[in-house]
Amino acid sequence: MGAPRPGRRAEIRLLLTGRTDTPPTDGQRFFGRRHGRRLRAGRQRLVDDLLPSLAIDLPPDGAIAPDSLFARPVGDVWLEVGFGAGEHLAWQACRHPDVGFVGCEPFVNGVAGLLDQVARLGLGNVRIHPDDARALIAALAPASVGRAFVLFPDPWPKRRHHERRFICPAQLDALARCLKPGAELRLASDDPGLVDWMLMHARTHPGFRWRARRARDWRQRPDDWPQTRYELKQLKGPPVFLVFERTGDPLALAAG
Ligand SMILES: C[S@@+](CC[C@H](N)C(=O)[O-])C[C@H]1O[C@@H](n2cnc3c(N)ncnc32)[C@H](O)[C@@H]1O
Repeated sequence: MGAPRPGRRAEIRLLLTGRTDTPPTDGQRFFGRRHGRRLRAGRQRLVDDLLPSLAIDLPPDGAIAPDSLFARPVGDVWLEVGFGAGEHLAWQACRHPDVGFVGCEPFVNGVAGLLDQVARLGLGNVRIHPDDARALIAALAPASVGRAFVLFPDPWPKRRHHERRFICPAQLDALARCLKPGAELRLASDDPGLVDWMLMHARTHPGFRWRARRARDWRQRPDDWPQTRYELKQLKGPPVFLVFERTGDPLALAAG
């Protein structure tokens, strides 16, 4: 951590203004918009001044050891894909100061929302990838992450857009590769079609086991799982909370 390398500020500004973009790893763009309303001056300052020191530099090759991203030693690293306005990530980071948090979100207004909480709460255990999570996940060292959250991912309801859904065989492979054996993968949605889709793919993936034993395990929110603004809208129905465990042979993981 510390001072961003020279040129990093300019790179981030270009990325966030949409004048450059990390090329999609497979030609497919998963996320929707990168910009919402014009940022208020204070939030724009956070994007300009704080983000460059928290944004993760993706190496051209080689792997990122995520625990090395933090100024202080961390006992574990947790990953959140698509953190939205960042309220879940900030809540977790506040309650787990010994864990390092890596959040991915290409929507600039969401990134500014998380930066605001990082600054207000004085969080020293957060790093940000303000872009497509797929590139970061691909760069993470095998078996280096203790927990991953993909909460209320975009449902892409039209059949012709289903291939944009984040939870899919390729991303489950990628998550299985970077998660430690026994690590948790937490998924949530209020969209019954997406819930069925995520269950179908994650339950048949050899690297994951669904922990639920009874209906209340997926219907009731676990205590350590705060509501997000998106969840409160309950657009399609009551939310469903799915907890999977990374299973399988760690040696096969390292080879993958
Ligand atoms: C429906 S919102 C939910 C946000 C948040 N998880 C919540 O519960 O409030 C989905 C978020 O995922 C982000 N997203 C979509 N595709 C992504 C990707 N490939 N990498 C990282 N974030 C992504 C979107 O920008 C959006 O903010």
